[in-house]
Amino acid sequence: MRVIEVNDYYELSQKAAEMIIDQVRKKPDSVLGLATGETVLETYAAIVNDYQQNQTSYRHIRTFNLDEYIGLAADHPNSYHYYMNEHLFRFIDIPMSQTYIPNGLADDIPEECIRYEKLIGQCGGIDLQILGIGRNGHIGFNEPGTSFDSTTHVVELAHSTRKANSRFFSSLEEVPTHAITMGIATIMKSRQIILLASGERKAHIMSQLLEGEVTPNIPASILKTHPNVTIIADKEALSLIG
Ligand code: F6R
Repeated sequence: MRVIEVNDYYELSQKAAEMIIDQVRKKPDSVLGLATGETVLETYAAIVNDYQQNQTSYRHIRTFNLDEYIGLAADHPNSYHYYMNEHLFRFIDIPMSQTYIPNGLADDIPEECIRYEKLIGQCGGIDLQILGIGRNGHIGFNEPGTSFDSTTHVVELAHSTRKANSRFFSSLEEVPTHAITMGIATIMKSRQIILLASGERKAHIMSQLLEGEVTPNIPASILKTHPNVTIIADKEALSLIG
């Protein structure tokens, strides 16, 4: 695992965007794995800015998002479909038909998980996966205790995750209880992975991740066994490293 320490969130976002744009330029038909959440927001803004300045093209790119809430329609402001459209897709030239996000309204959710997992394989697998990290070490919505062998599946969200995400909803009760997420094995099949961590609220988990062992109690710890992982973290996120 390579760790790039940057000064702050701005630098983190610039660096992450630069690595994604590099990948897109080197392989214009790349398959990208994308995350939602607060950390990646400015990375997407930097990609949009580059698109406007330099016309980097996403016409042949395909994207797979890590996860989606069950029960929220694509046009619900808190769905990850909505998030991706509002923060990235509608500002670049990627055809919407090449952007894949699990369907949280599918009639048959277990079947949707199988379909999504297969689709990633049919597209040749993910070249570059972007990850954030939960304060409990989750990646995607793979909460502590999730099997390292898991593929795309349904999860019941941990109370702490629902609480953390309730800042985007009007109340905790409105946060869905379940989601579809790529599994840990799905994420680990990606050829390259970038994990982003910013701010003091990620400091504790980053010290556990970087100084602890590989354990299902910290799902992100499995990344230590992957041959091509880069962590981009700012000083605050790394402030508890001894
Ligand atoms: C979102 C996702 C989550 C987030 C994580 C960090 O698609 O997969 O694992 O990356 O919860 O979220 P933020 O960036 O909001 O701290």
